[in-house]
Amino acid sequence: LLPQELIRLKRDGHALPPEAIEAFIAGLTEGRVTEGQAAAFAMAVFFRGLSLPERVALTRAMTRSGTVLTWDLPGPVLDKHSTGGVGDTVSLALAPMVAACGGYVPMISGRGLGHTGGTLDKLDSIPGYATAPDVDLFRRVTREVGCAVIGQTPDLAPADRRLYAIRDVTGTVESLDLITASILAKKLAAGLQGLVMDVKAGSGAFMASAEEARGLAESLVTVANGAGLPTRALLTDMDQPLASAAGNAVEVAYALDYLSERRREPRFHAVTLALGAEMLVLGGLSADTRDATARLEEALASGRAADIFARMVTALGGPADLIEHPERHLPRAPVIRPIPAPTAGRVVAIATRYVGVAVIGLGGGRTRPQDGIDHAVGLTALAGLGDEVGPDRPLAIVHARSEAEAARAEAAILAAYRIGAEAPAAREPILERVG
Ligand code: URA
Repeated sequence: LLPQELIRLKRDGHALPPEAIEAFIAGLTEGRVTEGQAAAFAMAVFFRGLSLPERVALTRAMTRSGTVLTWDLPGPVLDKHSTGGVGDTVSLALAPMVAACGGYVPMISGRGLGHTGGTLDKLDSIPGYATAPDVDLFRRVTREVGCAVIGQTPDLAPADRRLYAIRDVTGTVESLDLITASILAKKLAAGLQGLVMDVKAGSGAFMASAEEARGLAESLVTVANGAGLPTRALLTDMDQPLASAAGNAVEVAYALDYLSERRREPRFHAVTLALGAEMLVLGGLSADTRDATARLEEALASGRAADIFARMVTALGGPADLIEHPERHLPRAPVIRPIPAPTAGRVVAIATRYVGVAVIGLGGGRTRPQDGIDHAVGLTALAGLGDEVGPDRPLAIVHARSEAEAARAEAAILAAYRIGAEAPAAREPILERVG
């Protein structure tokens, strides 16, 4: 089937034969399918959806578009992946925590997608850190250190790499089918033995309602388990940024502070522990989530998780004293100033998506696939739901390239935050468990 014929079929709501999906994905990988055709395909899938067999075929084709790793390690090979959020820097903290508890975490992460940040872009703010090492180095660091957080190398799920970059800038991210195939292709290519999905729900998630998020969680769990990868999912709240930092270098700094116990925010901590506990239980490293949580806490308190992170950074070419002295290595924006709240009161709602969009506006995300990004810019000290704010209690601190860009981000943040008299009812960070 010619690419344009396949696009027409899906546009008109027909089922696609698995071989046709496979051929289209091969064309995408080899560059025969154009960027325009890939975008049109993504939009057709967005509107028409894929049946379960089509979704499985797409996931399988994208997984096989590159190398599929196998491991021979003395512990379980585990990973967690988030469907994408704002201020979601859990991966950087969690990979070394799980490694400190006996798991092996070969984490293949993605770039920013739509309004959400990407672990790979965050890691690129660490000078010298090889986010695209060859497969041998990736394997060696995973084996010797316990975790390696990298980006998609040309060998691993290259079809997703290309489609992901096109979806990022064509309004085609929010598709249950495409998200399922994108995430699972990377995870199946990594040769995992257990996967925990963090499926976000709320104003900063791709699937804003709990129902849609649950549908995505069920899709991920069904397709992954069907492909032989034991998987569980937690639905977690994204009605506000998870951490009080959103951007790239600022989120790395946040994760370093968390790992070295210089900072602990309750929502971020709760989500990190809950996901980590599921990973340890899934990998047979703990009998139950209670024991797993205690082990993860100990990995932080003993400094072992921080030590593993430091070893991973040096093994991949980054600076040896990054954890002790992030300010020496992470880029810093020239303009750093508060965004005062216009009136005194409590934060009653946050249009979290627009906090992410403000970071893109600062240059921290892309508007075209080939764009570079500014790693230094972003937001810190973001107020959370229920926090008291006012003219002397800012909504956030903006990190910008220029005063004009800071002013634009300020306008976006003021529009994203609603301030009222009373704090809204507290919402649990973990909403439910699927699988
Ligand atoms: N994360 C991914 O890797 N892919 C998506 O499509 C969404 C989140």
